[in-house]
Amino acid sequence: MPNAVIVGTQWGDEGKAKVIDYLTERSDVIIRFQGGANAGHTVIANGRKFVFHLVPSGIMYPDKTCIVGNGVVFDCEQFLKEVDELNDFGISVENRLFVSDLAHLVLPYHKAQDNAAESNMGQGKIGTTGRGIGPAYSDKVSRIGLRVGDLRDWDLFTEKFTANFELKKKLIQSVYNSDFKLSIDEILGNYKVIRDRMLSFIKDTGFLSFDATRNGKRLLFEGAQGTFLDIDHGTYPFVTSSNTLSGYACPGCGIGPSAINHVIGITKVYTTRVGNGPFPTELNDATGEKLRHEGGEFGATTGRPRRCGWFDSVMIRKSAQLNGLTRLALTKLDVLNTLDTIKICTHYEINGKKTEQFPTGIHDLSRAVPVYTEMEGWKCDISGCKTLQDLPSKALQYIRKLQNLCYDIPILIVSIGPDRNQTIEVDPLV
Ligand code: IMP
Repeated sequence: MPNAVIVGTQWGDEGKAKVIDYLTERSDVIIRFQGGANAGHTVIANGRKFVFHLVPSGIMYPDKTCIVGNGVVFDCEQFLKEVDELNDFGISVENRLFVSDLAHLVLPYHKAQDNAAESNMGQGKIGTTGRGIGPAYSDKVSRIGLRVGDLRDWDLFTEKFTANFELKKKLIQSVYNSDFKLSIDEILGNYKVIRDRMLSFIKDTGFLSFDATRNGKRLLFEGAQGTFLDIDHGTYPFVTSSNTLSGYACPGCGIGPSAINHVIGITKVYTTRVGNGPFPTELNDATGEKLRHEGGEFGATTGRPRRCGWFDSVMIRKSAQLNGLTRLALTKLDVLNTLDTIKICTHYEINGKKTEQFPTGIHDLSRAVPVYTEMEGWKCDISGCKTLQDLPSKALQYIRKLQNLCYDIPILIVSIGPDRNQTIEVDPLV
């Protein structure tokens, strides 16, 4: 398989983990390139459920190399917890799991700052995951962040940590008027142990990836969150703090764009969102509740119920533009099995005017009235289908309509259930 980037085309939670799993089988090196422990990729193996927040889920395959790239904000405690869980399960990560020395650290004061900032925002709350993502990226851009590689020099780490700790203490207590309960001695004591465990994972992972491509290995770049949570092109300010788009795979990993052959957009056949912000096709009714229930739409990281709505082709067309999609992977088709009718948003009306384009700011987006086409549901179980031809004709028509509204981008797979074998392969990568 050629090198490919996987991105979510909506607001995250598109079912990326299953598609990552499918593509991992055909790849050699799997790389996370942005986000942090705000992501939650759920994998079920031998009857046990794993939720990966930082370790690439490809680690479940014993012959794969996994990398956490420099574009990720890295929480050592969460990472080591996942490593321990894998070890307990008999999955060894030795010499095949690496973390970029350039990745910025998420430290306990970032989480305290995230929560204090949210508490201060009143009505304007973003609804973050509370994992310290925004503050860690802010420190990176402000050039005061600590990086994974800083753990190598404990004295320097302690010095930089102490300066930042004092700064955050002042900010949280005096500006946010919040409690600051962290103890520097406790954190440094804890991090001394963490440091010793981390050293063997730290590497120049950009070179590792480059060298792998030169040696004919196949790279899979595992995006987290989704297109409309991108810090530049998403529904700002209701976004995450990283670039979630495919292009960021390059700076977030440390190799150039010519290494990327394919961009796969994971697209749920309806829409969900966690956290606040405009959502034109949201359903605040029994159908929305049904989608949530049938689709198990509860956050993997925070457990929050996800907001649910109809498929929005305006979003996916924008996503195709932003990511340069070469394939769509459609997920969760089976969730629609019991619906009598299904709607697809074809375009919006904003201030009475028809638009087929996703607006650039939330001012217009929050006024967007979705315009739908309605299709009949197929009303039967599709879990045993192996090919597109096995699907009921109404399900096939639904898929073709979505594809047609989204520039006829070729479909890689259609997922019809959580199991590996509930995957219809349509147009594989060659
Ligand atoms: P943060 O990334 O924790 O700062 O949260 C910012 C926004 O992104 C919030 O609305 C979160 O709910 C959302 N978000 C962050 N990570 C994910 C994810 O993996 N899936 C879906 N939404 C996410």
